[in-house]
Amino acid sequence: MDRKKFTVLDFQRKKYEDKPITMLTAYDCTMARIIDSAGIDAILVGDSLGMVVVGYESTIPVTMDEMLHHAKAVKRGITKAFLIGDMPFMSYQISNEDAVRNAGRFVKEAGCEAVKIEGGKEIIPRIKAIIDAGIPVLAHIGLTPQSVSKLGGYKVQGKTAESAAKLIADAVSLEKAGCFSIVLECVPAQLASKITNKLNIPTISIGAGKECSGQVLVTNDIVGYFDKFVPKFVKQYVKIHDSISKAVSSFKEDVESRSFPDEEHSF
Ligand code: KIV
Repeated sequence: MDRKKFTVLDFQRKKYEDKPITMLTAYDCTMARIIDSAGIDAILVGDSLGMVVVGYESTIPVTMDEMLHHAKAVKRGITKAFLIGDMPFMSYQISNEDAVRNAGRFVKEAGCEAVKIEGGKEIIPRIKAIIDAGIPVLAHIGLTPQSVSKLGGYKVQGKTAESAAKLIADAVSLEKAGCFSIVLECVPAQLASKITNKLNIPTISIGAGKECSGQVLVTNDIVGYFDKFVPKFVKQYVKIHDSISKAVSSFKEDVESRSFPDEEHSF
């Protein structure tokens, strides 16, 4: 059967049908084509771009222009997957006007169908303004990497009764504000399950266990391309960093020994 274009409505449908939602990140056209062809439901151009592609130490320095450049490339590789642009640090915190303008750039300039925003109750005025402008919003709570300094590091969230209660309250408020789904990052599986059961909208886990409505991971992590560290919640399916490393060394050897190019690769 011909696969249909995945839309914002399919998030809700899959939750009701109890079918897991699949989401991966992409930052370039070739990777987007691979992910789209594999039938993954949604592609997130994450601000993880800063760490796994651009080489920053965190996601904080990532700019709107960097995000848009990569989102445009990803868009060219997609036919069916739902495309989400990740709002980078300081693209939405200052004012509703900034938030709507920058969310609008993802849609208008890069062809994104939704944006993702980190934060709970405190960010709801921004989320409402963006939704009022006609742009669907994917929320993101738990470990929110843009607030790493406030959180005191990349730590599991919701471990105390108080912080668990805050996450539940945030999730309920975000649903009420109109978000179509919520990413839960680094949250104990039991708490993530409780949040998922409490909500009508789907939850997407990244390190939040298997009871969420779907799963997202950073593609560069699951293919073993990003080699600086591997978070506990990442399953590495291949190690392309090693394969690329071997290919590069072999090329060097071949050129230095004049065994490349040979007849097969010459005119
Ligand atoms: O930036 C990112 O890639 C994310 C994740 C949810 C994967 O925010």
